[in-house]
Amino acid sequence: MSNIYITTAIPYVNGAPHIGHACDYLLADTYARYQKMLGNNVRFQAGTDEHGNKIAKKAEEQKVDVVEYVNQNSKKFQDFIKKLGVETTDFIRTTDKDHERRCREIWKKLKDHIYSATYKGWYCDGCERYVTDKEYEENKGICPDHNKPYEELEEENYYFRIADFKEQIRSAIQSGKLKILPDFRAKEMLALLDDSPDVSISRPISQLKWGVKVPGDESQVMYVWIDALSNYITVLGYPDEDISDFWPAKVQFVGKDILRFHAIIWPAMLLALGLPLPETIHSHGHVLSDGKKMSKSIGNTVDPIEVLNSNGLSAFRYFFLRHIDSFSDSDFTWDKYQAAYNNELANDLGNLVQRLANLCKKQNLSGLSDYKFELDSEYQETMDSLYFSKAFDYVWEKVQALNREIDEKKPWEYGKKIKAQIADGNQEDADKLKTELENILLELSAKLLDVSHLLSPFLPEVSERIFAIFTASKIVPPEVPLFPKNN
Ligand code: MSP
Repeated sequence: MSNIYITTAIPYVNGAPHIGHACDYLLADTYARYQKMLGNNVRFQAGTDEHGNKIAKKAEEQKVDVVEYVNQNSKKFQDFIKKLGVETTDFIRTTDKDHERRCREIWKKLKDHIYSATYKGWYCDGCERYVTDKEYEENKGICPDHNKPYEELEEENYYFRIADFKEQIRSAIQSGKLKILPDFRAKEMLALLDDSPDVSISRPISQLKWGVKVPGDESQVMYVWIDALSNYITVLGYPDEDISDFWPAKVQFVGKDILRFHAIIWPAMLLALGLPLPETIHSHGHVLSDGKKMSKSIGNTVDPIEVLNSNGLSAFRYFFLRHIDSFSDSDFTWDKYQAAYNNELANDLGNLVQRLANLCKKQNLSGLSDYKFELDSEYQETMDSLYFSKAFDYVWEKVQALNREIDEKKPWEYGKKIKAQIADGNQEDADKLKTELENILLELSAKLLDVSHLLSPFLPEVSERIFAIFTASKIVPPEVPLFPKNN
């Protein structure tokens, strides 16, 4: 049994969760459940990123005290995680006093690689970062993510000397010691690394009040990303505690938009602290709404609670883990969502369970109480590659193959045949047919249990229900089908 640490990006609390936020949580949860299935001991962090001007401004706009504002929104993310059936072990808020104190300790440990200088450049408040002159020109002075002109700022800042670690980071990425997935993103990060200037890691308190003060210089506040990235280790107790039981993380899940922070600044911080680099950074794509980036100004954001309420949790997990590709951008539309529910969950799986359990009930069959499960290697390889949507496709092919097998073996035709044999006085042949039928049904039930086991990291509730039905003392179909049709 190994200790496995899995992390997720901590969202800003400048609003309620949207469906895109589900990606980190569901991918990480699937991996966590898979690791537990392999018998490993999992620690799984989530949290909220609560400092910075973006959040302070939002609170001010809404005329709410910032502490109250972050409390309210952090709670929404905590509730969302529970609603998604995501089993985290730790939840960190960057406003936790322990986190803030530990951040200051981390800063002190980075000291040899920090210097102060005046900076003049273009800043985006939405991204909470300075952009290079090249980016400024390419984007014609307007941030494409936030649709706002960059501000020109000149201020005294502390800098983190990324240059001290570029070579080490490059060779870690190239050698796969720090694996960045998907591969093409690793190449992007290597190109970015070459151009990466040292990063400004503080701002004068006059410009940024809502944050962690720099130790030894109360006139400066830490850049939110230093505070935010530190969460992955402060939550384990660093530097107060020895974190080597869980650090380095096995996989860190982040979206493609924030990979650069995790592939450059974060490794540099870890190297400066003398800590090992994470094994893998998984960067997922974005969920689009009707083919477009979701944004409040376009008015196309989708409320995850509405989606959850429409067909329930398993339908949500099904769609976001199978139809939202684990690595590239994918589209959410209500039509696609309903079609996946009716044509796949209800038709392929719900019907299969109902049909098979009904046939077993007619034969008064007992469930497979001593059922033993074996993992298959193709599944395991795909899960290990962290391509979960592909692994889910693989499991679904098995669901469909089982449907085909039932259709080919036609167990429902046995009843008539058996009756005919009995009517002809051929009890022996009738018994033989009955045994044959029972064997077919039990074999199909065992295969369904195998499939349901493979499904368990994705759809734990469904897997448990199927397991309960086909291992019960008598197999009985559920009174209400697993996925009642809604059209
Ligand atoms: N606070 C930073 C993360 C700090 S991690 C040390 C942040 N927050 S965020 O709220 O903007 O994003 C949180 C996570 O949600 C990120 O992984 C981000 O990529 C992801 N997503 C935000 N919008 C998304 C979609 N539309 N689709 C999929 N994921 C999206 O960045």
